[in-house]
Amino acid sequence: MFVDIFDDIDSLRTRLQGNAPVAFVPTMGNLHPGHLALVKRAKQLNDQVVVSIFVNRLQFLPHEDFERYPRTLADDCKALSQLDVNSIFAPHEKILFPTAQEFLLALPPVADTLEGKFRPGFFQGVATILLKLFNIIQPQQAVFGKKDYQQLHIVQEMVRQLNIPVEIIACDTVRAPDGLALSSRNQYLNHEQRQEACQLFQTLLQLKNEIVSGKREFLTLQRDATQHLEQRGWSVDYLSVHKRSNLMPAQAHDNDLVVLAAAWLGNTRLIDNLEI
Ligand code: PAJ
Repeated sequence: MFVDIFDDIDSLRTRLQGNAPVAFVPTMGNLHPGHLALVKRAKQLNDQVVVSIFVNRLQFLPHEDFERYPRTLADDCKALSQLDVNSIFAPHEKILFPTAQEFLLALPPVADTLEGKFRPGFFQGVATILLKLFNIIQPQQAVFGKKDYQQLHIVQEMVRQLNIPVEIIACDTVRAPDGLALSSRNQYLNHEQRQEACQLFQTLLQLKNEIVSGKREFLTLQRDATQHLEQRGWSVDYLSVHKRSNLMPAQAHDNDLVVLAAAWLGNTRLIDNLEI
């Protein structure tokens, strides 16, 4: 199948002008079946699908993996052409940031919790690039993975509170057979770490089962799950139960729950979550 690859804004806009409504999938590339599931969902929503591939410097802290983040544009384009994607937007940094990006979105307090607590400025970088991409592409829908649960929540709130005319569609996390959530960062793991990595999901699953069976002492459950991982050599940034609707810490009487976690295995930071 034929896919158009755009590296500048004007030609992409010209291509989209007057055409059918667009379903949009924003990514940082290095596509795996998790990303491709979003693309397939987008294709069900609208015939016209645009995928962006852009490693966004604004959402990396200075010491993070921006430089070594895997960039595999040729392979990504091949995979997308097989899914009948119409347009790929893969701009150079100078196209999206011709000058320093001085206008940045101010985010609500939820952006300073969980991921935001350990990666200050991360969600501001995500929200700012997404607002730019939404303005450039003006999609009818944009598709996001639940893998990045807090990101999805913040995007939904951004669109609602800023009246951005795009419908946010959420897709389930795609996992390896052992339960590990697919992620571009999994390739940083060595063989031994890869064997261990599924313990993050297994621990969340165990915690979910305990809650489903009636346990409500969230703080104790969280502490035990964290200890379990740390005894196996993980370093846990957070592992906690939250209300799905606002991502506030869960209270005993809450029913719409999600458990979210981020933990290090060696030099690799993995995140995962599970709705309960
Ligand atoms: P990236 O990590 O490339 O992810 C792009 C999209 O793929 C996100 O919506 C993410 O939640 C989804 N995704 C990743 N792994 C998944 C999996 N295993 N199952 C289902 N969906 C999965 O998230 C970003 O890029 C960036 O922050 C971005 C939104 C593009 C802004 O720069």
